[in-house]
Amino acid sequence: MVSSQKTLLNQCKKTMVQALKSSGKILKKNLTVKKHIKDKGNAGIDIVTQVDLKSEKNIIGLISKAFPNHAILAEESKAQDGDDYKWIIDPLDGTLNYSHGFPNTTVSIALEHKGKILMGGVYDPFRDELFFAQKGNGSFLNGKKIHVSSTPKLNRSLLCTGFPYDLRVGNNANKYLKIFKKFLLSSQAVRRCGSAAMDLSYLACGRFDGFWELKLKPWDTAAAVLIVQEAGGKVTTYSGKPFSIYQNELLASNGKIHTEMKKHVRP
Ligand code: IPD
Ligand code: CA
Ligand code: CA
Repeated sequence: MVSSQKTLLNQCKKTMVQALKSSGKILKKNLTVKKHIKDKGNAGIDIVTQVDLKSEKNIIGLISKAFPNHAILAEESKAQDGDDYKWIIDPLDGTLNYSHGFPNTTVSIALEHKGKILMGGVYDPFRDELFFAQKGNGSFLNGKKIHVSSTPKLNRSLLCTGFPYDLRVGNNANKYLKIFKKFLLSSQAVRRCGSAAMDLSYLACGRFDGFWELKLKPWDTAAAVLIVQEAGGKVTTYSGKPFSIYQNELLASNGKIHTEMKKHVRP
């Protein structure tokens, strides 16, 4: 890496951490404040609050000030074009939890360059846990190197998943539950925690052994997928192809139980 890119990435890291922590403060401060809830569709389960918007405004403000030419893709605003660097932002991952005062939520920010994620951070302000990865440099939790678990078999694993917002459409609920049931019967347990960025970060540090979910968005996965990969985990589509944050299927694991998991996610 040339030294000018190294300097730029160091500056990006500084801004990323500053944005994650300051937005984390916003989430913490407003947890019990009355939420103004707006439906984004999907029968009232896909919502946004004033705190999502406040957090996003804070993050975009900091990034645009530091890097006015970079592009921005943030969940609650119109995408902004720019040069080859793109910031991908989820200002509050786990809004449904948050709207009920359930403090299982994160802020997630990633930096993409020509389609490759270079760096990602996920911050849980309620436990003060900052997960961070830079491509080729490993993954860290509050500055300490992390690694995925060494659980060798699905029947000894703790898994996590989430359900897409379209679960009330057609036969979707049955399709999703069929896969859920297979994992429920073949693992030690399955959790459903409500923040995909946190779920994946927990996989990266060995708290979970596997995760699957359909129809996540780039801002849900961009930072956390890099954190999993840099921690030694495996992330693919349901059929085992390389994962892209711009498509629908995500299967992630510690690597050791990936083949077993792959069998269950296919119909
Ligand atoms: C959601 C969370 C949830 C996942 C949903 C996401 P949001 O993000 O990550 O765990 O199951 O698919 O959309 O809407 O709270 O930012
Ligand atoms: Ca999200
Ligand atoms: Ca969100």
